[in-house]
Amino acid sequence: MSLNTAFASELDSRIEQLKTDRVYKQLNYLDSPQSARVQMEGRGEVLILSSNNYLGLSDEPSVIDAGIRGLRRFGAGTASVRFICGTFTIHRDLEEAIARFVGTESSLSFVAAWNANEALTATVLEEGDFVVSDALNHASIIDSIRLAKSIVKCTSAVYKHGDLDDLVAKLEQAKGVKRRLIWTDGIFSMEGAIAKLPDLIDIARRYNAVLAVDDSHATGVLGETGRGTAEHFGLLGEVDIITSTLGKALGGAAGGFVAGSASVCDMLTQRSRPQLFSNALPPTVACSALAAIEFVEKHPGRVAILRENTRYFRDAITEAGFKPLAGETPIVPIIVGETALAIQMSNMLLDEHVFVTGFGYPVVPQGQARVRCQLSAAHTKADLDEAVEAFKRVGRKLGII
Ligand SMILES: Cc1ncc(COP(=O)(O)O)c(C=O)c1O
Repeated sequence: MSLNTAFASELDSRIEQLKTDRVYKQLNYLDSPQSARVQMEGRGEVLILSSNNYLGLSDEPSVIDAGIRGLRRFGAGTASVRFICGTFTIHRDLEEAIARFVGTESSLSFVAAWNANEALTATVLEEGDFVVSDALNHASIIDSIRLAKSIVKCTSAVYKHGDLDDLVAKLEQAKGVKRRLIWTDGIFSMEGAIAKLPDLIDIARRYNAVLAVDDSHATGVLGETGRGTAEHFGLLGEVDIITSTLGKALGGAAGGFVAGSASVCDMLTQRSRPQLFSNALPPTVACSALAAIEFVEKHPGRVAILRENTRYFRDAITEAGFKPLAGETPIVPIIVGETALAIQMSNMLLDEHVFVTGFGYPVVPQGQARVRCQLSAAHTKADLDEAVEAFKRVGRKLGII
């Protein structure tokens, strides 16, 4: 038997097409922890403006030490799914801390927020129920809904991004069904926009719907003490279900969670396929994530530094002549138009030792390609000044400013 070479060459020609279409993604290899500056293979030291390491906890000593201690105490992995013999005491400790932090009764961890989102829709809905989703929601929510339609035969609709009239119209059409679920991102990752949570909660209550908020970019970021979108609006404890990641602000390793009532978490434990058929979160990662939450609880000043860095960079980049999408989150997209220009700008910035990714179609709409800057509490003012100077040089060369 020989390998299927025809299959491989067919894939190769599809990959060639990605290169021709200039949407092929080049991986850059890092050889140091995520921080304001990293060692990039072939480039040396590079200033990072593309990481979700919002609070700078990826290389925080207490987070690293907790992982090392966890490795010694619990070993390398769970070697099992939760319900067989893969549940460790650290899972319970972490899940109690998550619930306390985001203001819910309970929480359940997953190996990724992707899995947490994927699990939710098909587990809480049944045949004939209805789910409605913001048009700019994360891909994991989109796939969760696709799966739920196939697994439990629910129905679905998409409302225009942030358009509450459209949301209401969609809910009106589903008044007769037993359950309604509204899905939204807390912060929309490509725009940096914040969901209109007070209105969403109000609409959910009027239509007897369940509201699920994916706070992956908001946990550790929004609110005075980093508890997310609900805290930002003074609505802690008012969101039915919060999902989020442990792979961004909270240490940046991996993992995700669903937080909500004890019944939601228990139902997910009982029935969600990613819990039943896949290993639990590695204990080392759980230990680091718990240490990250405890760090944020003890040092809310980190969230304030992130806020201040965000304000500083937004002002400076605007002053430099760029037109970032308005907002208050540490996601600062600079729209340049064509995909090729966004990629060229990103490459030229990397030549200046500033790493910031360009996004084009189909990740964002045609003609709205952008470089997406992300701020971190790890950045110093000098880092941000250096980045803005590099942006100015590149922006002038490209005729953008
Ligand atoms: C809004 C949102 N939800 C979910 C995820 C998935 O997170 P994880 O990396 O934990 O699977 C991401 C990551 O990009 C995200 O931005």
